[in-house]
Amino acid sequence: MKKIIYNQYGGVDVLHSVEVNKPIPDTQQILVKVKAVSINPIDWKILMGEVKLMSGKKFPKSIGCDFSGTIESTGTGIQKFKAGDDVFGVTNPFKDGVLAEYIVVNEKEIAKKPADLSFEQAAAIPTVGQTALQMLTNSLKGKEILINGASAGVGMFAIQIAKSQGAIVTAVSSGKGQHLLKKWGSDYVIDYNKEKVTDLKKKFDVIIELSAKLPFSQAKKLMKPESTYFTVTPSLWNFAHSFLNNIVSKKKHEVILMKSDTEKLNRLANDTLNGFDIHISKTYPMSDYKEAYKTVIKEGALGKVVFNIPS
Ligand SMILES: NC(=O)c1ccc[n+]([C@@H]2O[C@H](COP(=O)([O-])OP(=O)(O)OC[C@H]3O[C@@H](n4cnc5c(N)ncnc54)[C@H](OP(=O)(O)O)[C@@H]3O)[C@@H](O)[C@H]2O)c1
Repeated sequence: MKKIIYNQYGGVDVLHSVEVNKPIPDTQQILVKVKAVSINPIDWKILMGEVKLMSGKKFPKSIGCDFSGTIESTGTGIQKFKAGDDVFGVTNPFKDGVLAEYIVVNEKEIAKKPADLSFEQAAAIPTVGQTALQMLTNSLKGKEILINGASAGVGMFAIQIAKSQGAIVTAVSSGKGQHLLKKWGSDYVIDYNKEKVTDLKKKFDVIIELSAKLPFSQAKKLMKPESTYFTVTPSLWNFAHSFLNNIVSKKKHEVILMKSDTEKLNRLANDTLNGFDIHISKTYPMSDYKEAYKTVIKEGALGKVVFNIPS
């Protein structure tokens, strides 16, 4: 079977396709024939050696973590799934990658894919949907929410989850994503090339920072006296600052690390069936992995970019 791997950190050119044996599931594992894989920034952050503390020095590595597919076989200890089930999920991106024709996964990493959800839609959900959900657990009715960097995957879900819970959403991206911010339900949209978010006079109950361009120190002046700022950059500095800040301040600084579970995956699949839009701006065949990653790294993604894996 084909699998995309790399033997050193670097740019997209270190990626290559190899023929390897189909993996064999142990008693607690599931063999999945992969049908679709979506791209996340963590894929190329690992590839480029930006998170070596977590990813280590062992090669070869493989790429991708969000997938959907059909179960080919299960280990003898698996109860909840059987061969033929369509599933979707996310694996630990620091272990084995999913851009391959077959993968082995654990029961906890997957959920059943509803028949009315396409494989592409399902593969677009896990990382970004669950990250957004983790930030939006409290009651949001009437709350003012700022989503800075809202036109890619996490923003797509954050806007729609916040709106479904009655929040008032201000969303920020460049000009190319403004139509999507509106389509997903934002009440106010900002093009960061035309207006500085830090010039806003409004104060927010929740700030979701997805662009790495609005640090807590600058966001503070946009926060209500009792409010929360979420960052998705789990650096040691952010964890330390969050810990110390939250002891003394009611302007909370929270660091998000996505944790996947079947319950969240099921909820997001249902939300999608009930009307959440999953915008897939481009699909690529698996063989175009270099072009796909080069384009996403250079231009960013509107919503999600997905690979189709041929049967
Ligand atoms: N901690 C975790 O567990 C976790 C989980 C998932 C994702 N993440 C992280 O979350 C971040 C968002 O991920 P994503 O999948 O949604 O894709 P992404 O491609 O990183 O999205 C970035 C967003 O920021 C916008 N942006 C760029 N420059 C900006 C600026 N100066 N001001 C405001 N917005 C700006 C982009 O809009 P334009 O394209 O219009 O410039 C885009 O909407 C990534 O850093 C990812 O690694 C973390």
